[in-house]
Amino acid sequence: MSLGISTRKDDHIVLSVKEDVSSRLSTLLEDVILVHHTIPSCSLSEVDVSAEFLGIGVSAPVMISGMTGGSALAEKINAALATVAQRLGIPVGVGSQRAALEDKSLARTFSVVRRVAPDVPVVANIGASQVAQGLSEAQVLELVEMVGANALAVHLNPLQEALQPEGEPSARGFLDRLRELVRLSPVPVILKQTGEGFSKEAAALVRGTGVRGIDVGGAGGTSFAVIEGLRARMRGLDDLEEMSRTFSAWGVPTAASILEVRAVLPDIFLIASGGLRTGVDVAKALRLGADFAGFARPVLQALYQGGVDAAERYLRRVISELRVAIFLTGGCSLKDLRSAPVVLKGLLKEWVSQRGLARPGAGL
Ligand SMILES: Cc1cc2nc3c(=O)[nH]c(=O)nc-3n(C[C@H](O)[C@H](O)[C@H](O)COP(=O)(O)O)c2cc1C
Repeated sequence: MSLGISTRKDDHIVLSVKEDVSSRLSTLLEDVILVHHTIPSCSLSEVDVSAEFLGIGVSAPVMISGMTGGSALAEKINAALATVAQRLGIPVGVGSQRAALEDKSLARTFSVVRRVAPDVPVVANIGASQVAQGLSEAQVLELVEMVGANALAVHLNPLQEALQPEGEPSARGFLDRLRELVRLSPVPVILKQTGEGFSKEAAALVRGTGVRGIDVGGAGGTSFAVIEGLRARMRGLDDLEEMSRTFSAWGVPTAASILEVRAVLPDIFLIASGGLRTGVDVAKALRLGADFAGFARPVLQALYQGGVDAAERYLRRVISELRVAIFLTGGCSLKDLRSAPVVLKGLLKEWVSQRGLARPGAGL
């Protein structure tokens, strides 16, 4: 059983670095314009991007999203990602720990992250299907303790489950089990999508569950429909390949998803991920209402192309770009960025209007 999960996870990694597995939708961040302010109010070196991740101080509001674990390759990647996170002082997530619940010998492929990154927030990870089936208190503690986690992410991936021959596309009883998980978990629980985003209707269901954070995991970046389509092709499963293609343009684009979630959960800790590629993307996501920004595939690609140093350089550049974007919008801090002038255009403007969402900055 665990061998099956590990092979599948390795397929995801290899396809992510070797193929174009981007959603056929865009994030709609291109429809967000941060208004340039030509008389900055401080020097660039004074711009402060230090942030908090669920109450823990970190050097920037940027994290490495959970991707992997459960195989020898995954262990190497997790060690490398943890090295980058530790060097930069930013949070790092692991991929689904389901395989390690089923086969204890795989735990070290996840726990390597905490060993290598002792000083940064680490986010544990489990799938909604496992939560819906019910996790015992011992299993919840095992997930958290395995990586010395500061938070536990529950990933929702109904599209991927629907497209996998081995998938478990059922969330029956999920919300009740989620409440139970929040009660059992010694650390805050985050609900996370993996590339199709959250609507306000879905986000509203999170009210009253005790969940502390939402990672929108919006459309416009890595698409598991595309990844599963490529896996289906490799195995000659023509119908599944075709179905995956059909759904490769499905989901709530990341920019829209931030606004959707914020409309109904004004105080939740909100992580933007899905197709963020630059520090300007981060600045736009924060301006729309996110507290934090997550990066997955581009970090993996940088790692594949140039090792730990290249992945570190990539994220260092993202953080520098964020500082410059704050500087150029006339601010000196993340707080200033959150009230910087912004213009929405195109499909995002249309989305805001049809969905009855507040424009960011309305009432400023
Ligand atoms: C190879 C790969 C494996 C992933 N595995 C997981 C996972 O196990 N659990 C999870 O919550 N998200 C997983 N993700 C999703 C990412 O955390 C992230 O939400 C998504 O890739 C969008 O970000 P991106 O466009 O920057 O890649 C994975 C992503 C990639 C590329």
